[in-house]
Amino acid sequence: MIINILTLFPDVFKPLLESSILVKAQKEGGLKVKLIDLRKFGIGTHKQVDGRPYGGGVGMILRVDVIAKALHEATKESKEAKVILLTPQGKTFNQRIAQGLARTKQLVLLCGHYEGVDERVKNLVDGEISIGDYVLSGGEVAAMVILDTVARLLPGVLDKQATQKESFSTYTLNAKPYTLLEPPQYTRPEEFRGTEVPKVLLSGNHQKIKEWRLKEALKKTKKRRPDLLKED
Ligand code: 6GU
Repeated sequence: MIINILTLFPDVFKPLLESSILVKAQKEGGLKVKLIDLRKFGIGTHKQVDGRPYGGGVGMILRVDVIAKALHEATKESKEAKVILLTPQGKTFNQRIAQGLARTKQLVLLCGHYEGVDERVKNLVDGEISIGDYVLSGGEVAAMVILDTVARLLPGVLDKQATQKESFSTYTLNAKPYTLLEPPQYTRPEEFRGTEVPKVLLSGNHQKIKEWRLKEALKKTKKRRPDLLKED
């Protein structure tokens, strides 16, 4: 999978790309990340990438012509690339969207900045993603969230079981799929300040353990995230 990231701040991605999961994804998960500096496509000697909003208003807006040139560069070797604009107005990112993205061959993440992007940029992209209901100063942090989430789902990066049984994975119950939080987990010591590890986990009875985990996952989800049980 190739991920092209279009950003005014390519350097902020470097530490993440050198972190263990991303290194593993690049070595063993077939991930290639290319950082493309939007500034390179700026207008004139000042390499202007933004402008004042027509009709007035605060802040600067990213120019559509600059973004079009950058997208041309990002997609010239990958015509079927999926282009995603990162914006608080996008669809809220979740594990299901991540699983879909992890199956794409070529992905372009376009980081918005300043007060926004020219509305016509929306005609140049395949989708818009937000990472939650709050405003970031730019799409970079959101792109990093997506990069990390997708990288660990790539085949060969993590133990397959680890990504299937964690929080926000789908469980089947009465033939219906449910998205549940993770059940409680324990390691040594068996007793800590009077609290013991649930006996069933020490029983060696795999069927019983499986049932217990599902029951606990459901209990936790009902209590903390009842909204998840209405989905699917
Ligand atoms: Cl993708 N961008 C910005 N600027 N703010 C956000 C966001 C994205 N997702 C949540 N807040």
